[in-house]
Amino acid sequence: MKIKNICCIGAGYVGGPTMAVIAQKCPDISVNVVDINEKRIAAWNDSNVENIPIYEPGLSEIVKEARGRNLFFSTNVDEAIDKADMIFISVNTPTKTYGMGKGMAADLKYIELCARQIARVAKNDKIVVEKSTLPVRTAQALKNILENTGNGVNFQILSNPEFLAEGTAVQDLNKPDRVLIGGDIDTESGKKAMQSLVDIYANWIPLNQILTTNIWSSELSKLTANAFLAQRVSSINAMSELCEKTGADVNEVAKAVGMDSRIGPKFLQSSVGFGGSCFQKDILNLVYIAKSFGLNEVADYWEQVILMNDHQKRRFAAKIVQTLFNTVSGKKIAILGWAFKKDTNDTRESAAIYVADYLLNEQAEIVVYDPKVTEEQIFSDLEYLGTRSDAENRSLVTVVKSSEAACKDAHAVALLTEWDEFKNLNWQVIYDNMLKPAFLFDGRRILDRSELEKIGYDVFVLGS
Ligand code: UDX
Ligand code: UDX
Repeated sequence: MKIKNICCIGAGYVGGPTMAVIAQKCPDISVNVVDINEKRIAAWNDSNVENIPIYEPGLSEIVKEARGRNLFFSTNVDEAIDKADMIFISVNTPTKTYGMGKGMAADLKYIELCARQIARVAKNDKIVVEKSTLPVRTAQALKNILENTGNGVNFQILSNPEFLAEGTAVQDLNKPDRVLIGGDIDTESGKKAMQSLVDIYANWIPLNQILTTNIWSSELSKLTANAFLAQRVSSINAMSELCEKTGADVNEVAKAVGMDSRIGPKFLQSSVGFGGSCFQKDILNLVYIAKSFGLNEVADYWEQVILMNDHQKRRFAAKIVQTLFNTVSGKKIAILGWAFKKDTNDTRESAAIYVADYLLNEQAEIVVYDPKVTEEQIFSDLEYLGTRSDAENRSLVTVVKSSEAACKDAHAVALLTEWDEFKNLNWQVIYDNMLKPAFLFDGRRILDRSELEKIGYDVFVLGS
């Protein structure tokens, strides 16, 4: 079956870029991205493509090319479902903040709402594709809802996990290492549905990079990939603390270790801790699933990756307090970078939020600058943690529009996102406008320590 009309529910960091690239590569398919968030859809439709709601290098150009041709953004979910042959579900699946599995299990309420809506609206057969990262066996739940509440039409469920990383989404979508498609490989109709999705990707991806598996393998592979990647970061971060005690340098260790081709060089950059919407959530999902099967050792093994990451964020913040003579109360600390990594405006689970929170609880005054994150987002991130009232946050936190403004009259500056522009700052001028002694904490290892020390900074570089 040749797909002519695609609907994607969820115009977020995954749905938006993925659909834009599919529309660009497949001009004969009509791609309709829908979302319940009217503001977000309005931003996707903004006549100035630079105002689309998600910042990703190269994305606005693609939207400019395809939007209005075969790429459409709308809030009319029912209409898009009705017209589609294939429906991608790309809504968010945050960690539950209530009830059973609180703090660990994925909250699947949005997924379930989507399934019920699809079942209600669909009047002909549809292929439903899980794009959101989900706990293993969610496809079964989707199937139950679709089949038991639907209008008697047939649904095929596929799992097609997304491996794009934010900040490089367009590049990752154009040239993925692999595309993974899971489905019902035991039935003819299952195989046909899988083939129709393979055919879409085959427009630009070599067939030997498109893997097909059974649906559970596909769901579990996504969690496994993220768990392995996060584990590498936690492993190198564990070594960073040991390096600081022994006089080793974590970058030198990472290089020496990464040149072993069995280990490889990627994901060995020590940092103030990994963030992003996926790593923590997906590992917590693994831990939860393992526990629910009574596999406590398996659960504990993976949980340690998260515990190490929490430790890294906390110890970095504690280092700032210790270095500033064990008190930061009333002291001004500049935070450069709020996003969870460079080249994205996404802040979910960013280490900066936790470092700021720790310092605020020590009554520091925080001044934040990030090139792409809005003031509104920074306050909402701090409020979400709920460790202080929003009013307290407002009185202790200021958001400014440049690194220079953030560092003016500050006792210390903490660099928490590796934005390229921070490497090229005039650190001498910034130093001249800080209180002395002026401290600099590099949580991303992007600055040249000896240059900074020459200027007069008291420098802490993570992992050395
Ligand atoms: C994705 C995946 O879906 C998630 O599972 C993965 O772990 C992280 O990446 P992402 O695209 O980053 O999520 O999420 P987000 O940017 O929050 O976008 C989700 C969108 O879905 C939001 O714009 C939200 O308004 C929309 N949504 C949510 C709906 O349209 N309907 C709903 O019922 C719920
Ligand atoms: C990740 C996966 O890479 C992607 O395949 C999956 O689909 C979604 O989750 P993302 O969260 O967007 O992507 O970013 P990623 O580049 O993986 O970085 C995650 C976090 O790890 C960031 O905070 C980053 O700064 C940190 N990190 C990464 C390190 O601290 N050191 C490294 O060496 C690499």
